[in-house]
Amino acid sequence: MDTHEWPPIIQGGMGIGVSNWLLARSVSQAGQLGVVSGTGIDSVLLRRLQDGDRGGHMLRALAAAPWPKMAQSLVDRFYLPNGRTPGKPYARLPLWTLNPHKFRTMFAMLGGFVEVWLAKEKHSGLVGLNLLTKVTLPTLPILYGAMHARVDAVLMGAGIPREIPGALDDLAQHHATQIRADVVESTAKSPTWVHFDPSIWREQRTRDLPRPAFFPIIGANSLALLMAKKATGSIQGFVIEEPRAGGHNAPPRGPKRFDAEGQPLYSERDQVDYAALSRLGYPFWLAGGFGRANGLREAWGHGARGIQVGTLFAYCQESGLSTDVKTVLGRTLAQGPVEVFTDPLASPTGFPFKVAQIPGTLSDPDLYAKRTRICDVGYLRDMYMTPTGTIGFRCASEPVEDYVRKGGAAQDTINRKCLCNGLMAAVGYGQTQPSGPELPIITTGDGLTEIAALLGSTGTSYSARDVIHYLLGTSDNP
Ligand SMILES: Cc1cc2nc3c(=O)[nH]c(=O)nc-3n(C[C@H](O)[C@H](O)[C@H](O)COP(=O)(O)O)c2cc1C
Repeated sequence: MDTHEWPPIIQGGMGIGVSNWLLARSVSQAGQLGVVSGTGIDSVLLRRLQDGDRGGHMLRALAAAPWPKMAQSLVDRFYLPNGRTPGKPYARLPLWTLNPHKFRTMFAMLGGFVEVWLAKEKHSGLVGLNLLTKVTLPTLPILYGAMHARVDAVLMGAGIPREIPGALDDLAQHHATQIRADVVESTAKSPTWVHFDPSIWREQRTRDLPRPAFFPIIGANSLALLMAKKATGSIQGFVIEEPRAGGHNAPPRGPKRFDAEGQPLYSERDQVDYAALSRLGYPFWLAGGFGRANGLREAWGHGARGIQVGTLFAYCQESGLSTDVKTVLGRTLAQGPVEVFTDPLASPTGFPFKVAQIPGTLSDPDLYAKRTRICDVGYLRDMYMTPTGTIGFRCASEPVEDYVRKGGAAQDTINRKCLCNGLMAAVGYGQTQPSGPELPIITTGDGLTEIAALLGSTGTSYSARDVIHYLLGTSDNP
């Protein structure tokens, strides 16, 4: 087990672009573990460059990348010093495939590098990287890029990241590595693998790369045991995420049951046995509804090292959520509690996904119905096996006829939302489609009303440091 003195507060990874480098940096400088989101980070980097790279941060980090020629070619191709002409769509990359173009892989590496490098620039605090296990194709190059920026920890949930610890070991040696691709309807006898060979990026071969700690994000004791015993390399701790958490939630165990509003019902079977978890001997952090005044103390009482908090950090000054979204949320909260719906259908992954019911966003059924379906970002597509044995891609949020043509069931498309475009819009990088601008989708945890405690009676915004003081009980706030 590693000897790092890991801090009590982990600022949860929040994609796409909500836990950006600025937020992670502030948290890290305050002595806690700041975590950048690596989900969709290649597209985020590209869109920041096309928006003129306000502050020059992307260009500064790209200039520090150990692959100068690649970084320069990215800048030459996509950087617009004055930003896009109003109304002009962002240039896009081809969607990920099992054998992506070298260019696509390169952007993912640079995206991982840039975000971590900026979060760690000029201080010695700890910075982690969050990725979704479900989004398999970009994972290895993003990890490799982040490792060149000396990322301290990698945290992954939304699936079982069994092969990631071994992949981190390989990448630290610059060795080729692979992770398993989840292919639905596969009739193949052997699994499909996603390969990554760092040796094609010769520019950096001699660099020594520290292997980051690995913390799987899990929702059940059985998964903790599985990761501790069957992962392909060592793990250094766990984040235990409970159903109150923002973003995707683990589905309930056992038969599917719903409350009167259609939200999944969790039962005793979903409760984590903290005592059994402690006996595994790894440090662990509790997530999901622990972002409150006595949350840390409660977690310590369960034997945890600390807590992972998302929602409170998502709305602080430094987070990537657009000013528009923060303003609308602040206004809506001032009028009363905001409903957070655990939507069993919104995410094309099939995992429950929490959606804050905020006017002007995709949570409004009329606005959702008006959107023309398009799949042009594509991170959450499923891989499936075609009748001829090749691998195809489909997303339950894409145009229904396309999904059905690819063998998907029409009923699986009902009420699915395009999280890729909706989440990009929430952080100010919404695409301009032929049918109009993409609208945001806002995810938060059930503990959204805690934000009111931080906003105080004046309703002014708060910083990441305010959140940390609040959680540690060292502030004057209520
Ligand atoms: C806006 C938002 C986006 C999130 N995105 C991710 C994500 O991309 N990956 C992930 O592992 N967890 C994600 N989460 C979960 C957080 O990392 C964290 O575990 C959770 O928010 C903790 O619960 P809390 O919201 O009650 O504090 C997200 C949470 C929020 C609020």
